[in-house]
Amino acid sequence: MRVAILKERRNGETRVAATPETVKKYIGLGLDVAVEAGAGLASGFVDSGYAEAGATIAADAAAALESAGIVLVVRAPDAPLPRGALLIGTLGADAAAAAAFAEAGIEACSMELLPRITRAQSMDVLSSQANLAGYRAVIEAATAYDKGFPMMMTAAGTVPAANAFIMGAGVAGLQAIATARRLGGRVSATDVRPAAKEEIKSLGASFVGYEDEESKAAQTAGGYAKQLSPEFYAKQAEVVATHIAKQDVVVCTALVQGRKAPILVTAAMVASMKPGSVVVDLAADAGGNCALTRPGELFVTENGVKILGFTNWPGRLPAAASALYARNLLTFLSTFWDKEAKAPKLPEDDDIVKGVTLTRGGAVVHPLMQPAS
Ligand code: NAI
Repeated sequence: MRVAILKERRNGETRVAATPETVKKYIGLGLDVAVEAGAGLASGFVDSGYAEAGATIAADAAAALESAGIVLVVRAPDAPLPRGALLIGTLGADAAAAAAFAEAGIEACSMELLPRITRAQSMDVLSSQANLAGYRAVIEAATAYDKGFPMMMTAAGTVPAANAFIMGAGVAGLQAIATARRLGGRVSATDVRPAAKEEIKSLGASFVGYEDEESKAAQTAGGYAKQLSPEFYAKQAEVVATHIAKQDVVVCTALVQGRKAPILVTAAMVASMKPGSVVVDLAADAGGNCALTRPGELFVTENGVKILGFTNWPGRLPAAASALYARNLLTFLSTFWDKEAKAPKLPEDDDIVKGVTLTRGGAVVHPLMQPAS
């Protein structure tokens, strides 16, 4: 069976779904690997590296896809795939796209729908990518900030430590806290899930936030934050507002699954910040946590606050992001692998398989996405 690795075509997508390391492992599973020429270039993996690992380099997408049984991507491809092919990538939870895959006879698996269970951790693309994004957010904040992160005592005087506030302490936020601490910042953080408070403190940051009966139940069974009431968000904003005015760097990472990101930093809060302060909005892909974020842009406000609203944060460290993403896909495929048949075997009753499968046998099967009527 052939597995095809396509070059990503979405604007700004720098990652690739397989690396020479994972190509070798796929060959070990008994697959032929075809890599579209230039697929890994933007993340630093050259064609010769894939060829040395045993892949065939295909001149274009059509050549890579010829007779492919499995197609690995970061984003949904636009090239037509062979009927019956198993497509694995971050395909979203879009009912219309799922219906199109079903129509084309594609067996599509959307990896960001993976259940957050222990067994699935090593296949969890959201975690692997969010972790790197959290790190990168702080590095970019430190670069954009025109003072230093650590306190520096010099003969010419003292440079105070930067106050960094991390909003949302999930995977990205916890890595942002750790990174800001390593750089020497004075770090505080907030979240709505009660479990996050202890995690924030265990990383040496202080907790700032509003808690009440509602927030005690703010976590879903899947580990995500729930959408909370407007009253709760108003109370949270009150607590956060006075804190933000004293911050040099604010890193926003708060998401509510399946919804637009909550606005946590209002225009008034940004106006209260000192000139030269930096807001990094990791939630920009989901609309942003800051009311003034311009997705995809670095924007400087009238009072001199820099708002970094870049999208695709993991794509800003493409080599590391691709390496982890590629391993997530490899783990998924090798977990559901029929050694004898040298082909994938996705048991319909397995929780992981159920979680990610969008389409099977020409129908949309995911409970979240029934075909558009
Ligand atoms: P996420 O990316 O959906 O959200 C990021 C963070 O924003 C979350 O911590 C969430 O509570 C927070 N948030 C939402 N609304 C907020 C608000 N109004 N104010 C402040 N913060 C707000 O979450 P992520 O990073 O994917 O992780 C969610 C949980 O899942 C975590 O507890 C994580 O440890 C857990 N997890 C479990 C895994 C497993 O067991 N396999 C794998 C990955 C994560």
